[in-house]
Amino acid sequence: MKDLLLLGLESSCDDTGAAVVRARPDTRPEILSSVVAGQTALHAPYGGVVPEIAARAHAEKLDLCVEEALAQAGVGLGALDAVAVTAGPGLIGGVLSGVMCAKGIAAGAGLPLIGVNHLAGHALTPRLTDGLEFPYLMLLVSGGHCQFLIVRDSDDFTRIGGTIDDAPGEAFDKAAKLLGLPQPGGPAVEAEAKSGDPTRFALPRPLLDRPGCDFSFSGLKTALLRARDALVAENGGLSRADRADLCASFQAAVVDVITGKSRRALALYLAEAPTQPAFAVAGGVAANSAIRAALETLSAETGARFVAPPLRLCTDNAAMIAWAGIERFRAGQRDGMDLRARPRWPL
Ligand code: KG4
Ligand code: ZN
Repeated sequence: MKDLLLLGLESSCDDTGAAVVRARPDTRPEILSSVVAGQTALHAPYGGVVPEIAARAHAEKLDLCVEEALAQAGVGLGALDAVAVTAGPGLIGGVLSGVMCAKGIAAGAGLPLIGVNHLAGHALTPRLTDGLEFPYLMLLVSGGHCQFLIVRDSDDFTRIGGTIDDAPGEAFDKAAKLLGLPQPGGPAVEAEAKSGDPTRFALPRPLLDRPGCDFSFSGLKTALLRARDALVAENGGLSRADRADLCASFQAAVVDVITGKSRRALALYLAEAPTQPAFAVAGGVAANSAIRAALETLSAETGARFVAPPLRLCTDNAAMIAWAGIERFRAGQRDGMDLRARPRWPL
């Protein structure tokens, strides 16, 4: 295997990214640059990501991000072996912007083009950061994703569970909104929960009593709303302590559900007797220290190695796309100029 140098592009949601990653046969891959231009401020007035605004911002920022990523890496287009780009799933306008940009670079510089599934990018990240061997168990938990995957190869993923309604990050964001806390809700709820009593409100643990590895978070949000409304009706508003206790009780419910379902997913995965058992998490919700600590303890109990990549590589970024491109490239996979942008693309 020779050295490989890939440029990766990401534009499937509200982060524009470009990155250069180098892979060498006998050493760890190296992230030479990873530029991310977020759009939080653009969407903030609307309370959610507006697809049209996102697509426009990606189209404006992609070239700049690519220039910056190449400059930081200290390489020119001529040094690259290929260009990898998120080809879905995601908001179609943004995905199209990225695919068109990558096609332009590939055609202009005479480079191979590689389309990457965004979810595969997240799922393969622990190989980039920690050199995990296949098969490993992955829990992907963010504002838009929620699934357990057994990752068997760079293009072989078995989904063994997921959410039937909201993603956990979405649940944290809605909880924060209900309690008058700022967005993104996860960090705000976690900060409040630190001083709260997690046992004051008996919130439900949805689907925990049912078999399987599926999640549901919408009932938990409704229960939180009821608890809030009862307090407001009784006292005319929420005290600081009420808010902290609601956050702590909500977070405790999410931790219990994620831990309970992870125990089952680990049992299914470990039943296959992997030689180097490992459990990896990715996605913005993996930033939550209560969730991380619970999953770390669970992994230790089962003998699986626990891996949580650094947060900047857990959330949307282009280094994971460049890396997934390297894995596809090594497997001999290439795409042509007919590469399509796909709004839906299950693994
Ligand atoms: O992966 P990400 O940056 O974007 C996607 O959704 O793809 O994840 C963002 C989500 C948001 O919903 C945010 O509230 C949640 O991750 N999040 C957290 C924490 N930090 C971010 N949720 C719980 N606890 C946190 N500390
Ligand atoms: Zn993502």
